[in-house]
This record gives sequence, C-alpha cells and structure tokens, in this order.
Amino acid sequence: MPFQARIYMDANRKLGEISPLLFGGFAEHLGRCIYGGIYDPASPHADENGFRTDVMQALRELNFSIIRYPGGNFVSGYNWRDGVGPRDQRPRRRELAWQSIETNQFGTNEFIQFCRKLGAEPMMGLNFGTGSIQDAADLVEYCNAPVGTKYADLRASHGFREPHNVRYWCLGNEMDGHWQIGHLEAEDYAKKAREAAKMMKWHDSNIKLVLCGSSGPGMPTYPDWDRITLEICWEQVDYLSMHYYAGNPHNDTASYLAMAVQFENHVDTLAAVLRYVKAKLRSKHDVFLSWDEWNVWYKNHVSQGGWTEAPHLLEEIYNLEDALVVAQWMNVFLRKCSVVKIACLAQIVNVIAPILTTADKILKQSTFYPFMLFRRFAGGSSLDVLVQCPKYETKQFGDVPLLDVSACLDESGRQAVFAVNRSQTDPAVVELVWQSGAPSVLDEVHQVAGTDPKAANSFEQPNVVTAQKLPPVPVSDARAVVELPPLSFTVMAASGSG
Ligand code: AHR
Repeated sequence: MPFQARIYMDANRKLGEISPLLFGGFAEHLGRCIYGGIYDPASPHADENGFRTDVMQALRELNFSIIRYPGGNFVSGYNWRDGVGPRDQRPRRRELAWQSIETNQFGTNEFIQFCRKLGAEPMMGLNFGTGSIQDAADLVEYCNAPVGTKYADLRASHGFREPHNVRYWCLGNEMDGHWQIGHLEAEDYAKKAREAAKMMKWHDSNIKLVLCGSSGPGMPTYPDWDRITLEICWEQVDYLSMHYYAGNPHNDTASYLAMAVQFENHVDTLAAVLRYVKAKLRSKHDVFLSWDEWNVWYKNHVSQGGWTEAPHLLEEIYNLEDALVVAQWMNVFLRKCSVVKIACLAQIVNVIAPILTTADKILKQSTFYPFMLFRRFAGGSSLDVLVQCPKYETKQFGDVPLLDVSACLDESGRQAVFAVNRSQTDPAVVELVWQSGAPSVLDEVHQVAGTDPKAANSFEQPNVVTAQKLPPVPVSDARAVVELPPLSFTVMAASGSG
C-alpha cells in the first residue's frame, strides 16, 4: 500500500555550508587497492605513470575531493622513506598489519601525482605506531618545504623540485585500537600528537591536522578517548577523526535501513565532546569532525595476505541495501554539515570499495551510484527540511521514519532533494512543498532502486543496481508530487536554469 508523505523546504532555513571535502575517499596499501587497483604498470590500461586509466576514469565519475593515504592500519608500521626515490632501490618488506609483501613501488610522490591527475586534495597519514615525531616532521619537510634543506632537497633529487603543499595530515590511525601497531593509551598518544603537531606546524603553518578519535563507538574507551586527547591537543589540531563500518550481519534489513539513526547519534556525541572541551578550555579555537573512514563492511573479513603481493583482501560485494545505507550516510553528512567537514569513503578501489578490478576489467558496485549522485548534486547550503511521513518498527532503533531526507541549495539557485524510501514493500507518494525558493522544474531526477535488497552487480551482470535517469518533475505553485518506490534512493534536482 502506498503511503503519503510531505517534505517542506525553505531556502531561508539553512543548516550550514556543505564542505566540498565531505566527498573524499581513502586508499590504503592493503590488498589490491594500490597494487592491481590504482597502480598496475603491467596492465594494458596503464598510463605513463603506471596508473590504470580505466580505474581513473571511473574514479573521475566519483570525483573525490580529497583522498586519505597510505593507511589505515598499514601506516602504523610504514617508513615513508621506503617509498620514495629510485624504484629499484626501494625495499621489499613484510607488511605486518595485513601480513602481505610490500614492494614500495608506489609511495608518497606517486600518490601526489595520482591526486593531481584526479584533481583531489591529498590527505597524508602519519606513522604514530613505530614512527617518531621526527619522522612526522621530516615528511612535512619532504612534502612542503622549498628546496635548500635536507628533505626538501631529497624530494627535488627524486624529481619534484616544487613543494607538494600537502595541506591535510592525519596524526596516526586508530591509535586507541589494540590491533594497531604501536597502540597507545589516550594520554600517551595525545602527548605524542601534540609534540608532533608543534614540529609539523613549525615547518608549515598552513597545514591542517586531524587528531585520532575513537576508532568506533563500540570501543570501551569511547568517548573518553576523544575527550582526553582533545583536552591535551585542542589548540594544535583542526579535526577529530571518526571511523565506522556498518553492516547487516543478522539479516535484519529493517534495522539496517535505519542506520542513519546511529550515524547521527555518533556525530551528536562527538559534537557534544567538542563543545565540552572548547568550553572547558575557554578556547576560541574550533575543531571539526573528519569522518575519514566510513562504509559498509561486514561480509568479507579475509584480512591476512599470507605474505604475498597484492592479495585479495576485504573484497566486499555490495548490494542494493548497502547502497541505500551509503545514501543515508551521505544524507547525514549534509544534515550534520555544521560539524562534519571531511569524510572519506573507505576505500576507493577493490578493498571495501565502489569499484572492483580484474586484470583487464572494472566493475561499478551498487554503492558507486549514490556516491556519484551526491557528489554531482550536493553543494552550497544544507537545508533543514521538515519531513512528515509514517514510521516503521525496527528491532535496533525503535520506530523510525520511512523516509530519510536531506536537501541543499546554492547561490545560483541550484538545489536538490535526496530521499531514501526505507520501506521494503510500499511506495511513498511524496508532496514536495517549498515555503520559499521554489524552482520551476526538477529537471534532473535520478534513482537507484530495486525489489531485492540483496541484488548486486557482478562482472557477468554489471547493471543490476545502477542509477536511472527519470523524466523531469514539474513544480507548480511551489509544489511537486513524486512517487518513490520501496527500497529506493532518489535525487530530485533543479539545475537552476528554470
Ligand atoms: O579500512 C580498513 C581498515 O579499517 C583500516 O586500515 C583501519 O583503519 C580500519 O580498522
């Protein structure tokens, strides 16, 4: 049975500016993300740098604004010096986090070249496990200092005379986790982060630093870790990291499709910690959230490479319900844009990724499409929409609205509504009502939908879950009516020309 809903929008009711850095990705030396994914000089698709052009083309559609690298757990045992300079002199190493062989054929300079080709901002992770504060500062010098001193000259000798000007830096990765190489207690980590931050900012005062927050809300130290580390590092850092991987391990699709409730709660808790620490320290400085690892990940836990190069690890297959969770996550980024300023989909190729490769083919997974649509249509200000719709019952979150919605509007009048219909059975008949700022037509309407939540793309059947372009929706008297099928994500956008 169809259900009725109404979405009210008001151009004056703004939640804040949507940071372009919310559309980021994450690339780790893990499995086949780098080797066999991004970088494969032996591939017939390789360009002059060894980057796979078919992968680059798909990544261009996702248009990542920022890419975090080189890990993840990998970074906590990584010596950045191994990955720079002549390739034939770079060491092969046993990589402990993923029990793989690291050839170091791809490193800092290749990553920067890759980002520049894609037009993405590089976000560099630092080793806070086995690495020292001196190593961190040296890498800033290597990347950002003008020639004339040791590490800047080393960069120049490697063919990069001009500084890379890397602006975003992560002070370690998941240092609260016992699985992390060199795991630290909160105070110990925070003191190391504070001292590294001082040295790094003395090298380059323009850089922005991300402090390791809790690696997830399930950690026993959450959210104390966040409070303690922020209290010690507040004035030195600009962002606090958040990580979370969602899943449907008990096949409870009703609850799974309501995960946005948890994502919002996670942001609200950490936003409260930020406000508390700022008030406690009587500070005028602001720290924002960087959700720099987020995705669905629960089906494939093959994480040990057996000491081989580029093993198949964490190669999750995504289905329709996963795509609807990704869409809701991005709705949350828009609704919480006043505090969440960076977000990185983990990861970008092969490893828990929207793109899979074989030696000569690529596959766009279901989750590719909601990301692509948000990246294309979300921008400007996020609007505080009012949604009236029935609720449904979930085991995990109680009663939850059947629709999950966000909306945005930019200064040129471009606007978009992003709506997930969580019902597994019923279409929604939705009236969109503009209280101000109505467009004359929704001329870009795109939808990801299906009848089977478990439907997934494969190399044999690559178009089971994709985005369909629908006919324009007329707006009359500041109202429009659309029908949203069950299990769907729809973008309704006005290009601003009408
Ligand atoms: O993205 C996969 C892994 O998940 C990352 O290396 C780590 O930071 C997280 O636990």
